[in-house]
Amino acid sequence: MIVAGWLMLPDPHEGVCLKRGFLTVEHGVIRSVEFGEEIFMADMGGEGTIVCPGFVDAHMHLPQVPVIGADGMGLLQWLERVVYPAEASWADPDLAAEATDHAVRTLCSFGTTAFAGYATVHFDAAKAAMRAAAEIGVRALIGQVLMDRNAPEELVRPAAQLLQEAAKHDQIGRVRPAVSPRFAISCTPELLAGAGKVAETTGQFVQTHLSETRDECAKVRELFDGLSYTEVYARAGLLRRRCVLGHGIWLDDEERRTIGASGAAIAHCPTANAFLGAGMMDLRRNVEAKIRPAPGSDIGAGPDRSMVRVARAMLDVARLRGELAPPASHAWWSITGGNASVLGFDDTGQIEQGRSADLLLIEPDIELELGEDEPSIDPLGALLYAWDDRWLKRTLVHGKTVYASL
Ligand code: GUN
Ligand code: ZN
Repeated sequence: MIVAGWLMLPDPHEGVCLKRGFLTVEHGVIRSVEFGEEIFMADMGGEGTIVCPGFVDAHMHLPQVPVIGADGMGLLQWLERVVYPAEASWADPDLAAEATDHAVRTLCSFGTTAFAGYATVHFDAAKAAMRAAAEIGVRALIGQVLMDRNAPEELVRPAAQLLQEAAKHDQIGRVRPAVSPRFAISCTPELLAGAGKVAETTGQFVQTHLSETRDECAKVRELFDGLSYTEVYARAGLLRRRCVLGHGIWLDDEERRTIGASGAAIAHCPTANAFLGAGMMDLRRNVEAKIRPAPGSDIGAGPDRSMVRVARAMLDVARLRGELAPPASHAWWSITGGNASVLGFDDTGQIEQGRSADLLLIEPDIELELGEDEPSIDPLGALLYAWDDRWLKRTLVHGKTVYASL
């Protein structure tokens, strides 16, 4: 199969760039990438098409897709009233499989072909979710949520049992498990330390939430004898390179240094932060502390399924804080190759020979000054800020069409 158009390619200085060319796909894998105007017999795409790697979402919750948009609450109240009841329904693994199939197809229809997601506290549901996602073919991390306190009875389980289960999950197709203690409030120190050990022995990724709202941070200090939120996770051995911390808004400089030195990344979820009124993450300070930022939708606190909207919100928040926002080309890199690299997905996120053909065919209905040496408007900026989901015409996962617009 030949796919032609303006290819979004990694650029060591700019993040990404657009180059005219085509790629060949065989057995779901990109076999070659060629450049130039001459395009023969393209099966897909053409002169007006932008061919982009599938988007990578660094933080989302599969069971929360049906409850997107429950507004008017802060984090802790929203968890109790909206999220926990929704997650309790995953006691039924068949329902979890069906919900995951729907959630993943929804993500693909917005261009996301890889993600790090949370399931629920149920072992069978987490497994069913991994299977359902693997069946569609997406690349993912999916974690069974670990909670042994401060949540409804039906969602807390003894630490020993949870840890045994967490260590039992195996990769299914392109879907890997992730050790996922929900957040410090819902985990005892024993569960957190055990989670650190499971990550160490199995090599699984860790994902959790950190310093999202002020109320949450105050509660953590109360539960953990005045320790900083970051120190709670550091002592449990959870901070490591293969670790994605959701939010990281209310951090002090010492916490930033600890996270930066550990190599852990922070999932930056600006649309979710706006929705819950959590605050605005300090991108500049985090980057200065060598913390890799990884944009995440945080569905269902985040109402936006589209990673392009999340990327745009990331730049908006930087500007609202009075900072110079990174250029759009960097934001495009963040939601493709950047996030793939953070999540250890070395087979996706870039248009490169040997990577999986997880690709998007985009046809903007605005004039972009593509191929001009000095465009009056940066095409990647226009693509980001004027983005319209209707421009996404097709999503390929491992070379297979999983979404096509009418
Ligand atoms: N903190 C703990 N659990 C959650 C969750 O499900 N969503 C968000 N946004 N924050 C959390
Ligand atoms: Zn989250």
